[in-house]
Amino acid sequence: MNILVTGGAGYIGSHVVVELHEAGYNPIIVDNFSNSDKSVLKGLFEITGKEILLYEGDCRDQKFMESVFSSEDIHGVIHFAALKAVGESVQKPLEYYDNNVGSLILLLTLMKQYKIENLVFSSSCTVYGQPDSLPVTEEAPKKPAESPYGNTKQLCEEIIEDTFKSGQQIKAFALRYFNPIGAHHTGNIGELPLGIPNNLVPFITQTAAGLRDSIIIFGDDYDTPDGTCIRDYIHVMDLAKAHVRSLEVLNRMNQSHYDYINIGTGNGHSVLEVIQKFELANSASLNYNIGTRRVGDVEKVYASADKAKEVLGWQANRSLDESLRDAWNWQQKLRDSENA
Ligand code: NAD
Ligand code: WQD
Repeated sequence: MNILVTGGAGYIGSHVVVELHEAGYNPIIVDNFSNSDKSVLKGLFEITGKEILLYEGDCRDQKFMESVFSSEDIHGVIHFAALKAVGESVQKPLEYYDNNVGSLILLLTLMKQYKIENLVFSSSCTVYGQPDSLPVTEEAPKKPAESPYGNTKQLCEEIIEDTFKSGQQIKAFALRYFNPIGAHHTGNIGELPLGIPNNLVPFITQTAAGLRDSIIIFGDDYDTPDGTCIRDYIHVMDLAKAHVRSLEVLNRMNQSHYDYINIGTGNGHSVLEVIQKFELANSASLNYNIGTRRVGDVEKVYASADKAKEVLGWQANRSLDESLRDAWNWQQKLRDSENA
């Protein structure tokens, strides 16, 4: 079965491509490489032993996307392609709305035209803002988005839901990812931030590798046991598996369907804990300083993972230690290949 993976050259998409291949699907990547590098294809080949089919182009380009849909017999779509930097979205809201919302609308239109039913959409725990109670369940109300990026995820969920309600034959899950970290255990693929990383774990690994002097902890005066923010960090390969499970469940359905599901571990860890666990798991030491709070950060959020277990039969298996070891292994391999 051919599965179209938009944004399949990116961080999460590339790991899902591996998992799809292993489960017997035939992943087909569409990517414009606006936030990824072609070297990922080499990493994918090293892991899968297969040249993964790639269409290079923009998901908002109607002609290009029509050529993809008309050339391939597509059974389902996983839609990762999006811009994802929260701070940048405040500076460039129109680019974010255009890319994230525009690409989904075109995709849903083509899915209707080509009678493709199965869709897995990359949503985010950002739709919850700071939840009133934890762990956060899917029933928690969405809060007004803190950023244009967050708003695109809320809007995209609503667009899929409205499409479902309109009677279009569609079977879709919006997966609300918590904080994906880590890399494939081989270190052949991983997260490749262009420029200064926004996210905690790539900043940690780059600091440990000597690419950054020190890491700043954004505030230690939150109402948490050690004063630093709490998040639900999930290994990217566990996350990848949730996509394969989603497709399997959608495949078995014979009626239109739409639902949204948290994809997290159910456990919260503070920034300080992550730093300390990284040091212990990798026998490395990190320079870090306490800085001021980052605008827009929520204090604490972690998932209720019950619905994922119930609906998808999925739960995260890998520990935070394993995720941090794999993240470091990837960073070291990157450094070695750059020095080679
Ligand atoms: P990423 O930037 O590594 O991957 C996105 C990929 O999409 C990149 O390869 C990029 O080149 C491509 N792309 C972007 N716009 C495109 C377009 N218009 N046409 C074709 N290709 C395009 O990001 P990621 O971390 O892998 O995230 C994947 C998805 O998951 C995104 O939708 C993101 O919003 C969502 N998400 C990510 C996180 C996270 O922390 N990484 C958390 C929650 C949700
Ligand atoms: C984690 C924790 C920071 C960097 C973001 C998006 C969210 C989702 C996931 C896409 C926070 C702290 C970080 C640093 C730090 N993405 N931190 N120093 O903010 O939970 O979520 O990515 O949907 O929408 O907002 O992830 O990795 O940026 O931060 O102290 O240099 O680490 O304050 O508490 P976040 P993150």
